[in-house]
Amino acid sequence: MDFVGEHILSVDQFERTDIDQVFRVADMMEPYAHRVKVTRVLQGAILSNMFFEPSTRTRVSFGCAFNLLGGDVRETTDMGSSAIAKGESLQDFARVISGYSDVIAMRHPDEGSVAEFASASRAPVINGGDGTNEHPSQALLDLYTMQKELWSRRKTIDGLRIAVIGDLKYGRAVHSLLKLLAVFDAVNVHLVAPPDLSIPMDIVEFLQSRGHSVTTFDRLEEGIQSVDILYVTRTQEERFSSQQEADRYRGLFRLNQTVYTKHCEPNTVIMHPLPRDSRRSAQELSEDLDSNPNLAIFRQTDNGILIRMALFALVLDIVDRVDDYAAGVTWNTRKRRS
Ligand code: CP
Repeated sequence: MDFVGEHILSVDQFERTDIDQVFRVADMMEPYAHRVKVTRVLQGAILSNMFFEPSTRTRVSFGCAFNLLGGDVRETTDMGSSAIAKGESLQDFARVISGYSDVIAMRHPDEGSVAEFASASRAPVINGGDGTNEHPSQALLDLYTMQKELWSRRKTIDGLRIAVIGDLKYGRAVHSLLKLLAVFDAVNVHLVAPPDLSIPMDIVEFLQSRGHSVTTFDRLEEGIQSVDILYVTRTQEERFSSQQEADRYRGLFRLNQTVYTKHCEPNTVIMHPLPRDSRRSAQELSEDLDSNPNLAIFRQTDNGILIRMALFALVLDIVDRVDDYAAGVTWNTRKRRS
């Protein structure tokens, strides 16, 4: 993959060497993300950050990542306040917005919509989530986090044993993650979901065609045994045809410290793309795990900045110039609480 000027729409675009390249650039971004150094390499550049579904992490970290490279961010967060509400097509919208922008990040409720937008865009478009389809930057940051967590346990993604838990039908983060994991070797996947919320069969077949082991479970306690990583997900209630239907699944699987201690191997990593549903009736990932050092969910969100900086740097072809525009040590000595 060349990256320069390309749209990032699906993890299908990534070979293993591409993933390694993103991770190498993400590592380079650490001093800038941590405000130890500043760079103005993207001074004058504009990111149009268009999120037509709720988002905290993806929207804000795309924006922060661009700011950390010296660029400016324009936010559009409400379809009703754009001319789409007046019947403008996604393609006309793209023709206009891409004339105003150097790069575009977009989330949209419909599968395939970001690709449709990108087909008419003159600027690179990064998919921030399209309906139940894909969430490629989330999968990359998840994989980056997994690699770091596994290295500290003397393990690798090759040979990984992972349990993916929850709403696997509608969870786009899981769809992208599993397809990305398929480019590694000998992954053993436990799919833990209610039968009605099981993963699309094409993803299972894709994993199996690449030689990976896939086993399905409908009981949490069985599926979380003998794995290195638990990847917990929220029931995507906004995708159900009615709240009544969604309520059938709320709180069905609950991982807490007691269940973890009883059924998981020591030091099993706990991940979640977030947001977790912390309502009393849901709690797929209990807050009593917050003091468990194996809980990596906020390391994931921190890594999201690095990965999104890396994607901008690669797509806009400024990887080799980031340091040239560095202004040295900054005001920051960020004495942060861990
Ligand atoms: N993980 C994720 O996509 O979070 P947001 O919906 O807050 O962006």
